[in-house]
Parts: sequence; C-alpha cells; structure tokens
Amino acid sequence: MRVLGIESSCDETAAAVLEGCPGGPFRLLSNCVASQNEVHAAYGGVVPELASRAHIRQILPVIRSALTQADCSLEQLDAVAVTAGPGLVGGLLVGVSAAKGLALASGLPLLGIHHMEGHLVSPLLMEAPGGGVTFPFLALLVSGGHTLLIHARAFGDYQLLGQTLDDAVGEAFDKGARMLELGYPGGPALAALAQGGNESAFDFPRGLRDRPTADFSFSGIKTALRTFLQRQDPGRRAQEDFRRDVAASYQRALVDTLVSKTLLAQQQVRAPRILVAGGVGANTRLRALLGAACVHQGVQPLFPPPALCTDNGAMIALAGLLRHARGDADDISTLNARYRWPLEDLSRARGENAP
Ligand code: KG4
Ligand code: ZN
Repeated sequence: MRVLGIESSCDETAAAVLEGCPGGPFRLLSNCVASQNEVHAAYGGVVPELASRAHIRQILPVIRSALTQADCSLEQLDAVAVTAGPGLVGGLLVGVSAAKGLALASGLPLLGIHHMEGHLVSPLLMEAPGGGVTFPFLALLVSGGHTLLIHARAFGDYQLLGQTLDDAVGEAFDKGARMLELGYPGGPALAALAQGGNESAFDFPRGLRDRPTADFSFSGIKTALRTFLQRQDPGRRAQEDFRRDVAASYQRALVDTLVSKTLLAQQQVRAPRILVAGGVGANTRLRALLGAACVHQGVQPLFPPPALCTDNGAMIALAGLLRHARGDADDISTLNARYRWPLEDLSRARGENAP
C-alpha cells in the first residue's frame, strides 16, 4: 500500500510518500519539508496569516517533490492523507484543499488525519532492532501548541492522562527565547544557548510540582523569567555566561516538569514503552533525562529521530495508511479543517470525521 501524507497545520509545509502494510515494515519513499522559519523570524513567533500565504506558495511544489523523489505517480498511490486538525485553520485549509483536489482528480480515497495522532504513530516509522515498535505505550506529546500525556492502548484507542492548563511547553521555550532575545524558532535556539550553562544556577518554578496530577502549567515559569530578567542590571543581562546559565536553568525547570509528570502518569498505566514526540521531543536534555528515567523504571524509551519529532508528512501518511487499512475514509464534500479537535474524539467516533 502507498499513501501520500500532507501536513500544513502550523509553520511547516510537508509531504511524504510511505509504502507498507499495516503491520509494518514501512518504507519512507520520500519526506519533504519546507520550513517557514525565515517568514516568522522577525516576529519571534508564528504569524497565522503569513503562515497561510507561505503554505499556498509551497504546497504544490512540496507535494510534487515528494512524488518525484518517491518516483511515484498519483496512479501508483492507494490513498491521500492530510492533516485536518487541530492547528491554524488557514494553514489547514490549504492542505485540505490541495488533498481534496488530488483526491477528486485521481479518484483516490481521502483521509483527514488528526495532527497529534500523526505524532503518536511516528515511532512506528523507526526501524527498531528485532522488529517494529508496537502499541501500547505512554506518549508525551510536546509541541508549540500541545503538551499532552496519552495512554495509547492501540491504534485509534487513546486515553488522555494529562494536558497543559495554560501554555504549551513549546510556547514556554519560544517565549523564554524571545525574552533572551534569541531567534525563532526559540526552542532550538534556547537549547543551544543552554549548552555548557549551569542548570542549577537559578531556581525557576516547576508548575504544579506538588499536585498529584499529570496536568501541566507553564505560565508561572514564563512570568518568573520575565520578572527575574527585569531585576538584573543591563550589564549583567548582556553577559554571555549569565545568559547561558539562565537558559540552562530555565530549560532544566521545563524538562524536570515534563519528566516528573510523565513518571506520574506512568505510575497509573505502567506502560512497557514511553514515547516522546512533537517538536520539543527533539530537545537533547529532555531525551537524556527522560531516557535515564526510562532505564531506571525498566521501560523502553521510544525517541524518534528529531526529523520525525518535528512536523512532517511521513507521520500523516502513516496514520492515513493505518486508517485506510481498517476501512476508514472521508467524504471529499464534507471533510473540514478543524481548529479544535480533542484527540479522545478519535476513540469515541472510530473512523468518522466527527463534527
Ligand atoms: O511539533 P512542532 O514542530 O510544531 C507544532 O505542531 O507546534 O513543534 C514546534 C515547537 C516549537 O515551539 C519549537 O520551539 C519547539 O517545538 N522545538 C524545541 C526544539 N526543537 C523544536 N524545543 C526545545 N528544544 C528543541 N531542540
Ligand atoms: Zn506537531
């Protein structure tokens, strides 16, 4: 089976062609990503209107590249999968419209995919020694818009264990980076500055630390950083050593929160594997500390390579392939882009593009 996956929910225009059977193995024939970092750099964050326009410019060239690199024509595909939500609605509309056009012109089945389900299935693309990765697992999904702890019991069967009550952790990275006058995207820039810094130089709050909940809160740490920086004199604020220590301490507080809440959720479900995915999943400090915690707990860490953590078309193609294999399909005339789409709806409305 061959599926084209299209992704345009945030600031990456991506397309990929994936080949395989539902039980694996999967072969990624192409995986093309056009980033919009330069478009948003001057603003320190994603500007939705500019994102939509960049998606319009890039969507067809990216799809064409994915098909060319895979040496695959539309006739050789079995389905077209596209992120239908959640995300920035302007960007989603671009991808959904392109996918609908392709499906209409070619007669291929169309599948509207939940962006976070894409992230959830991404470890299945890893070539694990001794065979493919399987469900169940506990997933920490961390991106610019989401911070979720999910018990993924089987494909399409997801239990929400915890989520952020305010900002997403990627947002906390991006806003922290902005306060330190780093570029966009802030996460990688802050992580780079933190290298070599002293993580325990300053004590930033760990949100909801003493509460027995797997929910997260990142608004307090952001405010704490702002207040802390305002209190420093300008000379100190500009010192490179000081900036490195601030970045390292701030990153450590965010990562500590993610690790401790993941372990709390793990106490509930005792999953055999723990996955981290989403853009923040590329963070090396998170991978190191969560990896160590997994070893300590006797749990297998599932850390997809960074290119599969950040937004990509491969994960959407894979979710599409698995949904197509079990008989799901969306109607070209009714599939809609959805700004909000709770992941648990997938477990409730199996196979439907629920309203
Ligand atoms: O999943 P993603 O590519 O897009 C969304 O769906 O949001 O995640 C983007 C987020 C941004 O907030 C970015 O700053 C963050 O992931 N990010 C990182 C790193 N790489 C990307 N945060 C911390 N460390 C990184 N290495
Ligand atoms: Zn994402």
